[in-house]
Amino acid sequence: MKSFGPVRAVDGVSFTVEAGSVTGYLGPNGAGKTTTLRCLLGLVAPDSGRALVGGRPYASLTAPLTEVGAVLEATSFHPGRTARNHLRILCTAAGLPQSRADEALAQVGLADAAGKRVLGFSLGMRQRLALAAALLGRPRVYILDEPANGLDPAGIEWLRGFLRHLAHEQGAAVLVSSHVLSEVEQTVDNVVIIARGRLVRQGTLTELTSNGRSVVRVGAVNAAELGPALETAGGAVERVEDGLLRVRGLTAEEVGRIALDRRVALRELVEERTDLQKVFLDLTEER
Ligand SMILES: Nc1ncnc2c1ncn2[C@@H]1O[C@H](COP(=O)(O)OP(=O)(O)O)[C@@H](O)[C@H]1O
Ligand SMILES: [Mg+2]
Repeated sequence: MKSFGPVRAVDGVSFTVEAGSVTGYLGPNGAGKTTTLRCLLGLVAPDSGRALVGGRPYASLTAPLTEVGAVLEATSFHPGRTARNHLRILCTAAGLPQSRADEALAQVGLADAAGKRVLGFSLGMRQRLALAAALLGRPRVYILDEPANGLDPAGIEWLRGFLRHLAHEQGAAVLVSSHVLSEVEQTVDNVVIIARGRLVRQGTLTELTSNGRSVVRVGAVNAAELGPALETAGGAVERVEDGLLRVRGLTAEEVGRIALDRRVALRELVEERTDLQKVFLDLTEER
């Protein structure tokens, strides 16, 4: 738990990030994501509870850069330094070879900007530079606070692939926060959702998107006859427009069979995957 005066920023949130997987830490602005990550990185002392990296408090790590790669919100860089020099200074401080600076810049797609001053960098380039800094020590754990902020769509697409590569091919444990679910939806294996400092839901992406909430969209010329038949079979039917129904509680196969029994011709029969964004909004707005 961590309070700032009367504000309980994080309260009773507990989760584990496994090696080889990407965990999305999601919640609206002000939910407590940054505070949690700062607790993990030893930048904020929790009032109670613990946040451990590889079973140990961050402050006790002897070579943090080689164990944890962190990207925090609004990382500040010395504006007059070049990207390469910024990273080389970090290498020196951490006892890493200087060659890691250019390697990391290449990994994040900033090789061409290595000799440029950070002053002229866009927000997206700064995010990439912060990520390059996190990569320097080839850590096995990544803690990234809203790393997609400021990236253009191509940058977000690149980040997705990159985080999946770190986790799935290199076996890293990746924790990535976002207030925009769609940014990470295609990246994460596990999801932890918080709102107003409290844990709302956690599980695998599959668990959170299925959960009996699937909806079947069915189009039929004779929907007036089909609707009641579906209700008799236990479906909750919503009339979207003339001849178009949305059905909960039945699978597409069951809907198709009922239509066949009634000799109702279908124009369309689609099982809509639950939109996680909608689940996310429902979960976070009601609290
Ligand atoms: N240093 C601080 N001083 C006072 N309040 C803070 C501080 N840091 C965060 N808060 C408050 O704690 C809550 C959670 O903030 P934060 O962890 O930044 O959320 P998120 O990263 O999910 O947007 C907010 O109400 C915020 O205003
Ligand atoms: Mg934040």
